[in-house]
Amino acid sequence: MPAIVLIGAQWGDEGKGKATDLLGSRVDYVVKFNGGNNAGHTVVVGDEKYALHLLPSGILTPNVTPVISNGVVVDIEVLFEELDALATRGVDVSKLKVSANAHVITQYHRTLDKVTERFLGKRQIGTTGRGIGPSYADKINRVGIRIQDLFDENILRQKVEGALEQKNHLLVKVYNRRAITVDEIVSELLSYAERLRPMVEDTALLLHKALEDNKTVLFEGGQATMLDVDHGTYPFVTSSNATSGGAVTGSGIAPNKIDRVIAVVKAYTTRVGAGPFPTELFDDNGEFLRANGFEFGTTTGRPRRCGWYDAPIARYTARINGVTDFVLTKLDVLTGLPTIPVCVAYEVDGVRFDEVPVSQSDFHHATPIYENFPGWTEDLTGVRSFEELPKNAQDYVLAIEAMSGSRISAIGVGPGRDAIVVRHDLID
Ligand code: GDP
Ligand code: IMO
Ligand code: MG
Repeated sequence: MPAIVLIGAQWGDEGKGKATDLLGSRVDYVVKFNGGNNAGHTVVVGDEKYALHLLPSGILTPNVTPVISNGVVVDIEVLFEELDALATRGVDVSKLKVSANAHVITQYHRTLDKVTERFLGKRQIGTTGRGIGPSYADKINRVGIRIQDLFDENILRQKVEGALEQKNHLLVKVYNRRAITVDEIVSELLSYAERLRPMVEDTALLLHKALEDNKTVLFEGGQATMLDVDHGTYPFVTSSNATSGGAVTGSGIAPNKIDRVIAVVKAYTTRVGAGPFPTELFDDNGEFLRANGFEFGTTTGRPRRCGWYDAPIARYTARINGVTDFVLTKLDVLTGLPTIPVCVAYEVDGVRFDEVPVSQSDFHHATPIYENFPGWTEDLTGVRSFEELPKNAQDYVLAIEAMSGSRISAIGVGPGRDAIVVRHDLID
């Protein structure tokens, strides 16, 4: 029985939440392995719309055990708020497991995220302001607070003292903010301990046993390949490994346990926040994609930057992650466009690049080379098989499949749970 990794192929918001939910009834565990409440997944079930941030999307499926593993940074207040909001809507949240080794996001991480962004001025990343970067920075600097620290007050106090020592100098002397006291942080974190305790586990061991018992485990990535701190458009990235390798380090499951890597890719491209984006559109076509695709952030409400499909990025994603299957989403959004351009390569200062250039400044200056495909006018939302798609939509899918480095196994034709065309089974 498989361990499946599901990740984003572009700059996030590809529809990972919907894809996870689609597989939900056939998996036993859904694991969030990276990021935190910077993620925003919208899942539509019937008339109900759910916006999930910190919790894995699998939580909406009865009988699934949702797991927050060691690679995640946890804002515990947000965790409880999200659990309460789902519980009042009748979702069973009692099975959630949280890794004892996951790091926490505290007030000083959120404050530092916001003030450092302000001081970056023109070089702003456009973060979600949730304290993600500062919390991961503490983890790497070995001054982070982990979930397990909440259960030993002495240790917790020592660690918070250590973490705040430098930060208070920075907050007061550089950023002109008030100092944060050890007591306020310690008492806040301790106040969560009792409620959190029953959820806390050695999740690496739990998942290892689950796989030994032939359970199906789905690792759901937050963010996406081009936002990965190592492989994305650094420094305009998030602070974690959103690629398939992150599922390994972020959960404690060995690489040779992974059977399948599914990348979710939009039929066009979007990005939130700053950074290079070669196929970005500033004209009516960009507006068309934003309006038709309802491209506004689930987490911050910001309008998403929109552009055409970028095949070199899909190929890059296929290589970096070992993609076995793509789930192509939002094909329905392209309905009504007379012509659909696809980026097949780039030009940088008169030189053609068939693959994503390694140099940051080359990628910044890359101009797309497009191939044009004829559009279609038929509504796709009721389509459930590949053959029912208009001929031009079929040709568009087959053309980008040939350019993207792996097969397209499912195609999203609307936001609803059922609005999907499956070409190849994603689990067996
Ligand atoms: P995630 O962060 O990757 O989970 O994606 P988001 O939830 O942030 O953004 C994807 C949006 O597209 C959500 O509003 C989904 O409901 C919606 N969506 C997903 N698949 C499709 C699709 O095939 N067609 C359309 N029209 N909307 C989709
Ligand atoms: P999902 O899981 C799109 C972007 C932010 C910013 C950069 C760094 O919904 O696809 P951070 O707060 O993580 O330090 O911000 O990363 N970003 C996302 N963009 N979808 C996301 O998540 C994102 N999570 C972070 O906009 O540019
Ligand atoms: Mg999102």
